[in-house]
Amino acid sequence: MSDPKHLSTTRRDAIKLGLYSGMAALGSSGISNVFAEDSKLPLITKVVPSTGEKLPCVGIGTNSFTVADVPNLQAVLKRMHDLGGIFVDTASAYRESEAAIGTAVDNLKMRDQFFISSKISGGEKNEAKMGDLGGVKSFDRSLERLRTDRLDLLMVHNMLNADELMPKLQAWKKAGKIRYLGITTSEDTDHAQLVQYMKKYPLDFVEVNYSIAYRNAEQTVLPTALDRKIAVVVNLPFGGKHEENLFLNNNRVLPAWAADINCSSWSEFLLKFVISHPAVTVVIPGTTKMEHMESNIQAAHGVLPDAAMRKRMADAWNA
Ligand SMILES: NC(=O)c1ccc[n+]([C@@H]2O[C@H](COP(=O)([O-])OP(=O)(O)OC[C@H]3O[C@@H](n4cnc5c(N)ncnc54)[C@H](OP(=O)(O)O)[C@@H]3O)[C@@H](O)[C@H]2O)c1
Repeated sequence: MSDPKHLSTTRRDAIKLGLYSGMAALGSSGISNVFAEDSKLPLITKVVPSTGEKLPCVGIGTNSFTVADVPNLQAVLKRMHDLGGIFVDTASAYRESEAAIGTAVDNLKMRDQFFISSKISGGEKNEAKMGDLGGVKSFDRSLERLRTDRLDLLMVHNMLNADELMPKLQAWKKAGKIRYLGITTSEDTDHAQLVQYMKKYPLDFVEVNYSIAYRNAEQTVLPTALDRKIAVVVNLPFGGKHEENLFLNNNRVLPAWAADINCSSWSEFLLKFVISHPAVTVVIPGTTKMEHMESNIQAAHGVLPDAAMRKRMADAWNA
């Protein structure tokens, strides 16, 4: 995706020309509005600091994707694209996820329409079995499974073997096999180490856990990202799949004022809180379900909360 082919001509031109929908720009620099094709509300994009490329701010996490479910996943990805979402987060360690995405995107003939991000896992057991702690075989296998000759983004999964892998990622970037490089974690206890890497290497992206209920990233990772001009992908925006999932036991009533920021569901509310942090570029809620994806992508439309509204949202959640 050297040129933003993932956007239709209309949307690409609108972004290029900086056309706005008639609503005010959203204040924080790096955010612009353009119309998504299938929504009356403008699509919110955010800027990748290292290049200025604009990305729609909600994508999808795919660690539950399976090959047996490709027909459904194909429909989910196509519909997501129709609604303005292009960012697809996967990893070589996510069992069948890369193969399912590769098949679905190939069937759709839409490789250039999506921003595909994967992760290299130099320290996982399966990589060790391949005698591949340096990650080269893992990367080749990702390309093969994803049926592509280049990735938009490749990140070191959970920072494993980062010092060994980073020169390789830099070489692949130089050779045009990946457009961007980065490092991920999903654990608060890793944040201090992640910040060290953010200061040590010329990263385009980091991926980190952050949600309205688990806000540790605000302490060090997100300020460092702003300071170092590194784009941020947020994982676990709903607290993850397990007992920390924010939908579990949530008997709060959605406040009426959520409509002021175009939220009609808790999923939009929770995602808009995350996206509106100035350091955040893209959020990747994980789902395989059409109705959940549709609800999640709605958060990429309309207005974002300002600082005062973010405080009101957090207070409402904590109450
Ligand atoms: N270290 C790393 O780099 C790392 C670690 C973890 C995750 N990740 C990435 O981050 C992505 C997101 O993480 P995650 O999926 O574990 O956690 P998450 O996005 O916080 O939560 C996913 C859970 O929320 C549910 N959900 C999604 N949309 C919903 C909606 N609109 N309404 C109600 N429930 C909804 C999902 O259920 P359904 O399945 O029923 O929709 C699933 O149980 C992963 O897919 C993966 O790509 C990266």
